[in-house]
Amino acid sequence: MRAALAHLAPYNAGLSADRVRERYGIAHVVKLASNESPLGPSPAVHAALASALGDVALYPDSYCTALRAAIAAKLGVNPDCLIFGNGSEDLLSVLSRAFLDPTDRIVISSPTFSVYADSAAMMGATVIDVPRPPDLTLDLSAVCEAVGRKPKLLFLCNPNNPTGTAIDRQDFERICRLAGPSTLIVTDEAYFEYAVVDANYPRSLQILRAMSAPWIVLRTFSKAYALAGLRVGYGICSSPEIARQVDLARTAFNVNHLAQVAALAAWNDTAHMAKTVTHNRQELPRLAAALRARGFAPARSAANFLFFDVRENARLIADRLIAKGVIVKPWGGAYGTHMRVTVGTAAENDAFIAALDYVLPNGSPHERE
Ligand SMILES: Cc1ncc(COP(=O)(O)O)c(C=O)c1O
Repeated sequence: MRAALAHLAPYNAGLSADRVRERYGIAHVVKLASNESPLGPSPAVHAALASALGDVALYPDSYCTALRAAIAAKLGVNPDCLIFGNGSEDLLSVLSRAFLDPTDRIVISSPTFSVYADSAAMMGATVIDVPRPPDLTLDLSAVCEAVGRKPKLLFLCNPNNPTGTAIDRQDFERICRLAGPSTLIVTDEAYFEYAVVDANYPRSLQILRAMSAPWIVLRTFSKAYALAGLRVGYGICSSPEIARQVDLARTAFNVNHLAQVAALAAWNDTAHMAKTVTHNRQELPRLAAALRARGFAPARSAANFLFFDVRENARLIADRLIAKGVIVKPWGGAYGTHMRVTVGTAAENDAFIAALDYVLPNGSPHERE
């Protein structure tokens, strides 16, 4: 094994609903651990997949031609500026392969999506972490200072996973303006569709076009488009040259045929997306209010999940919730008393709150069985 892998921990993907059913003998499992969409994908996806099944003997289109054209047209970007991956986590590791040498640095702000640091560490690069302040937003001046150290990659996760907190337009511009031409700004907008309804959320494509640094905006079909199981992520690059460099580091058929077909059908169903976002706008505040009513203080979220301190070992509490049929994501390390819960259907959110009341009556952990 390469030495660079020695300190990596396996990705904590959590338990699948099937494994929980099997292990605990629970018929109805509520999975609120991976920020999936409770409404599922557009109905158009089912029809598109059914008609594409006949083509699976053939290799997929390595260029994602139809999906590329549709995304480029709607976003008003050059199709050659787009990159595609087997989920955006694939693109994150492709970016590290494409751009990071062992002498390079990246900047992240923890707690954040672990793949940035892990992919960089795999290439032997150094991770500069600018930890978040107690309100879990960015430490703006410390991030600006870190950008001044000329990192090769600057990761801005917006909204951030696991906190849900978003960088507003002003702060985003201020940080990006500081990046010079030797820094690639990587804005991870996995939860873009949920966040963009807020006028303060930065319109990154417009803002970044005016910057001198190169940039990539990453988005995904896994979250609001509800295609996590099919794995499609894409990125918009500042130039065809950056996209070409990323493409050199990917595998040729990294987005399979069914994934491309499904993503195109989902992309074109704007009415279903509106429904998904509206649902989240109704349920996120209701879930946050239910947590606040129990004395918890979830971070202000622009996404489809909430992050909060349970004031106990979150892993133990999550295990007790699993025994009640509810899967959430406990955090670790410095945030070992925090958990992240995805906004589900109204019934799923109620089931989560009821299970939380059961395992934490009066805010203290307790097991009655
Ligand atoms: C911030 C962020 N980026 C990227 C991803 C990866 O998403 P996917 O690989 O499913 O596109 C996730 C998934 O949880 C995420 O939260």
